Amino acid sequence: MFGFHYRLERKAIGLVLAIIGVASIGGAVEIAPLFTIHQTVEDAPDMRVYTPLELAGRNIYIREGCYACHSQMIRTLRDEVERYGPYSLAVESKYDHPMLWGSKRTGPDLARIGEKYSDDWHVAHMNNPRNVVKESVMPAYAWLARTELRTDDLPNHLKAMRAVGVPYSDAMIANAAADAYGQAAPDSPFAEGVAERYGGATTVRAFDGDPGKLTEMDALVAYLQILGRLTNAAQKPVASAEK
Ligand code: HEC
Repeated sequence: MFGFHYRLERKAIGLVLAIIGVASIGGAVEIAPLFTIHQTVEDAPDMRVYTPLELAGRNIYIREGCYACHSQMIRTLRDEVERYGPYSLAVESKYDHPMLWGSKRTGPDLARIGEKYSDDWHVAHMNNPRNVVKESVMPAYAWLARTELRTDDLPNHLKAMRAVGVPYSDAMIANAAADAYGQAAPDSPFAEGVAERYGGATTVRAFDGDPGKLTEMDALVAYLQILGRLTNAAQKPVASAEK
């Protein structure tokens, strides 16, 4: 065994070929599963894109560094599935640029937080987490409810998302600012266009409790309420903790 190795070490070309041979085993092990990717990564035809308001909320989530304490990725482990719900599917991150899976959990995972609590709960929690969870170490974000949401940059933001593969239509881009307003003002004439462009299942509500004003709180709560709900595949029992 070692005799063979000593002889191989003295033959430069033979050694190089042997190294290539051995190293390519590692390569093959990594590459081979990619050939079956069509069977292993499930598609979800009902997967919808983020509305402009949800996208704006996602930006606030990134700006405020929420990902530093919260992950958005439930692993396929029993304890995670029992605590948080069906494990995360690859297709759910299809339109996430950047993705926010994260690895640090000072707070709980948020991949299935959508519709777990009421809008009021989220607003109270953001204003001061200690008001609803006594021992919480999460910082307060009270200014979000007082800060008007900037919408003039939303059309360009949708356009940038389209450049990296998110299927926003021209109508979605042209109406981005109006749709952001309409989604948080159910009685306004802009509300109809949201359902028309993003589907009837889209939630149109005064997320921060005040339909008259479009705030950063509206955007963030709209985003939190859609987490895990962009496709029905995310709620399928195949991924839940069945016996
Ligand atoms: C310093 C770490 C930290 C940061 C930063 C942070 N959180 Fe939290 N978060 C926590 C902790 C700890 C909890 C659990 C206690 C509680 O509910 O307040 C929590 C709970 C939550 C919950 C409730 C989860 C559940 O399942 O009950 C939501 C929603 C949430 N955070 C959203 C956010 C958002 C949005 C931001 C950014 C604006 C944010 N968090 C920033 C630590 C953090």
